[in-house]
Amino acid sequence: MKHKDALDEFRLGVCYYPEHWPEELWDDDFRRMKELGFSVVRVAEFAWSIFEPVEGEFQFGLFDRALALADKHGLKVIIGTPTATPPAWLTHKYPEVLNVTQEGVMLRHGLRRHYNYNSKKYHELSAIITRKLAEHFKDHPAVIGWQIDNEFNCEIGEFYSQADHDAFREWCRNKYGTLDKLNEAWGTVFWSQTYSDWEQVFLPRPTPAHKQFNPHLVLDEKRFISDSTIAYAKIQADILREVVPHHWLTTNGLFGHLDSHRLTDDLLDFFSYDSYPQFSTIHYDPNEENRLADRGSSQTLSAIRSISPSFCIMEQQSGPGGWVNRMDMPSPKPGQMRLWTYQSIAHGANMVLYFRWRTATVGTEIYWHGINDYHNRPNRRVREAGQIGAELAQAGGWITSTRYAADIALLRDYDNEWDGEYDVWHGPFSWQSGKAWFKALTRRHIPSDTLFMRPETTLSDLERYKVLVYPHPAIMRDETASLLEQYVRGGGIVIFGCRTGYKDERGHCYMRPFPGAAAELTGISVEEFTMVKGSRPATSMKWEGEEDAVTRADSFNDVLLPERDTVEVVARYASDYYAGKPAVTRNKVGSGEAWYFGAVFNEASAGQIIKRLGLESPAAGLLELPEQVELAVRRDDEGSLYFLLNFSEEPVVITVEGEKSDLLTGAKLSGAISLEGFGVLVLS
Ligand code: GAL
Repeated sequence: MKHKDALDEFRLGVCYYPEHWPEELWDDDFRRMKELGFSVVRVAEFAWSIFEPVEGEFQFGLFDRALALADKHGLKVIIGTPTATPPAWLTHKYPEVLNVTQEGVMLRHGLRRHYNYNSKKYHELSAIITRKLAEHFKDHPAVIGWQIDNEFNCEIGEFYSQADHDAFREWCRNKYGTLDKLNEAWGTVFWSQTYSDWEQVFLPRPTPAHKQFNPHLVLDEKRFISDSTIAYAKIQADILREVVPHHWLTTNGLFGHLDSHRLTDDLLDFFSYDSYPQFSTIHYDPNEENRLADRGSSQTLSAIRSISPSFCIMEQQSGPGGWVNRMDMPSPKPGQMRLWTYQSIAHGANMVLYFRWRTATVGTEIYWHGINDYHNRPNRRVREAGQIGAELAQAGGWITSTRYAADIALLRDYDNEWDGEYDVWHGPFSWQSGKAWFKALTRRHIPSDTLFMRPETTLSDLERYKVLVYPHPAIMRDETASLLEQYVRGGGIVIFGCRTGYKDERGHCYMRPFPGAAAELTGISVEEFTMVKGSRPATSMKWEGEEDAVTRADSFNDVLLPERDTVEVVARYASDYYAGKPAVTRNKVGSGEAWYFGAVFNEASAGQIIKRLGLESPAAGLLELPEQVELAVRRDDEGSLYFLLNFSEEPVVITVEGEKSDLLTGAKLSGAISLEGFGVLVLS
């Protein structure tokens, strides 16, 4: 039974590792957490060797004492199952539980996440430790929920142990039934790859050309990893649902090769995300035009929201981050930690825990800073956490009753992402276009959702939006196309980019004119197409009806041929031998429209479409906002909360038409007001 009310009450908290600290510190630590306004701690997710120092011998004393103190101070506790860090005795005695690289190198004890998902031995040992913990803590008054493992597929998302190869063979047997079907699905007629015995089937192994494999096998590999992860998580979830049905379950992500939607739907009460916004600023591409790296994580948060409309941030960055020899992030400036916290909340977080209470003095993460420094004296970050704690003690109640509101969704799906990891003829485009759209929208203060197209997606899921942008769904099932067609007939607007609809779910190319599955809906065909790179100079397109409206036609060009008289040409190529030919079309279908954009999107071309569709910010007429400020709206039946997040270090001016009040301070605001650098307002 799912706990629908798990996130009804706002909670702020912190990740705490009592096993890292002298016991004398614990009481004071919990006392100060409470003072800061925290109400929840997460513990134990790496503590297997504390709980089971020797195989079969369990001890709970350390955590019993710590949890008793947490309880004494009125803090609630989330327990992490410790399976991300199998102890040395375990991997030494049962090396078959270890992960192995594609080249066959066994990954040994010494970091974390060194196990594989398919070892029967690891299943057995994980089940034992999970059951022991659940039984021990099931009646503890402080415990409210469980985190399964820690960050599935972080560190590594590929698995090639013997157990994985064997399980893959079984998975293929279940999926295909016969070798003939498997051979057909993987197109093994090509290059004489035909399998004549199941024993010949393996996960991809090294081949004569570096990292080159059968593309259909590689796509199935990703599906297999995802299924293996979920099957492994289910072992723990089933035990926890049986022993602690009164507690909620979650896990923290977000990492690759995992259908986190299915994981959450099948096993969890809600999904949790570990938010380190500096990853999007230190990994920025210096050549990217009009970067919005500072709020790149807003786009990721929208993907989390598509998994769980309300979610938890299990780890919110609260200091400079870094491992000893990799990742060396700057310290958050004054106000930045607060900004990031409200960024998470604006996007749907109803529970936020900082990572971590105090910086570790030993181990890989001695530079991954917590709120408190090693010296444990009051510091700026502790004070900032206290300010946030006080604000949310007032504001949290209203916030949790609301949901993020958006009229436009950017579509993604696992098949295309997993296929696109390997297929450079479409994969990189989706990221490029998704980002361009996100930037174009957010700069105009138009909130957007991410929506994952899944076999379970229904018409009413789509009908919540006026506009759907599905940038480059190379793989498109006919069922997906017909669902989108129903959406459009009913008045929706769908926008596709180049490379749409030409592959089936096995990754075979359809023997149909492009855009394959989307041809009917878009009313066009693709006359010819080309990559635009290398010796091919950049191309451009000219938008109809507007003097000088020329934008780049990036990366790939589909030259379009309208096939129906319902199709209007919106832009034409302005260069190369196909100058004058249609580049962008819109097709009227029922009361809606299906657009086809022949290239990879950039901000300027997304801007043209936004303008032509007349899309506006929900704050239009209410607030005047500069570009540096992100707008998010959370809404309930009572009204709207406007989150204004100033991502710049400098103060900015915003204008409030009429009067609004700031939920965080109670201040009444109207007219032109100055919002401080990294400042936040939550207006109602
Ligand atoms: C997360 C992880 C934490 C900690 C943190 C900083 O990925 O869940 O345990 O390692 O990053 O590196």
